[in-house]
Amino acid sequence: MARVFDPFVILSFVFIFSVSMVTGQGQAPLQDFCVADLKGPVLVNGYTCKNPHAVQANDFYYGGLHIRGNTSNPMGSKVTLVYVQQLPGLNTLGISLARVDFAPEGLNPPHTHPRASEIITVLEGSLEVGFITSNPENRHITRVLCKGDVFVFPKNLVHYQRNTGNTNAIAISALSSQNPGVMPIANVIFGPKPEIATDILAKTFQANDDVILDLQKNF
Ligand SMILES: *[C@@H]1O[C@H](CO)[C@@H](O)[C@H](O)[C@H]1NC(C)=O
Repeated sequence: MARVFDPFVILSFVFIFSVSMVTGQGQAPLQDFCVADLKGPVLVNGYTCKNPHAVQANDFYYGGLHIRGNTSNPMGSKVTLVYVQQLPGLNTLGISLARVDFAPEGLNPPHTHPRASEIITVLEGSLEVGFITSNPENRHITRVLCKGDVFVFPKNLVHYQRNTGNTNAIAISALSSQNPGVMPIANVIFGPKPEIATDILAKTFQANDDVILDLQKNF
């Protein structure tokens, strides 16, 4: 059995730590760029690189963020993504962008981004925004933002935005991942496939089965 101070054991820890530094989030790129080969057959953390000699200006470009998102849906909001899938040049860079459109009273419902913090600015209108801190405090940090205001949602925390005005609102969000991911709380709880057993959710929410069944029908 290896002793704790066995040089091999220490080297193993150093090696594991180095590997996690290289493959972990926030890693520094090791070359100028690694434009995503979105159709590449090799599965890695992110995408493999296109041949740098074949890279074009369009690989670093996305056009159309001036176009208003269609908010004719039950939430009255629409998120237009500029992630690595839309802009392959973002691969390995750890950043992305989104435009969020809101109809009057439109809601971007509570959700988390498993891989990113988010910084948001309001271009038009006003938004009520908030996020909830982790246990045990579960503090609700909220305020109203007007045109030109900036707010940050720390990585992984549940957050939302709602249009408080009677005009359309527009916001731009920057995110600290090329592929932030999104987990809308209601869909994750009440709409997964296959579904979570109704009695599990009834116990979780301290509610009757029929209340839970109603919610599950909506998703
Ligand atoms: C917006 O979305 C609604 C609902 O899907 C659809 O009926 C409508 O045609 C869309 N409007 C535009 C301008 O695309």
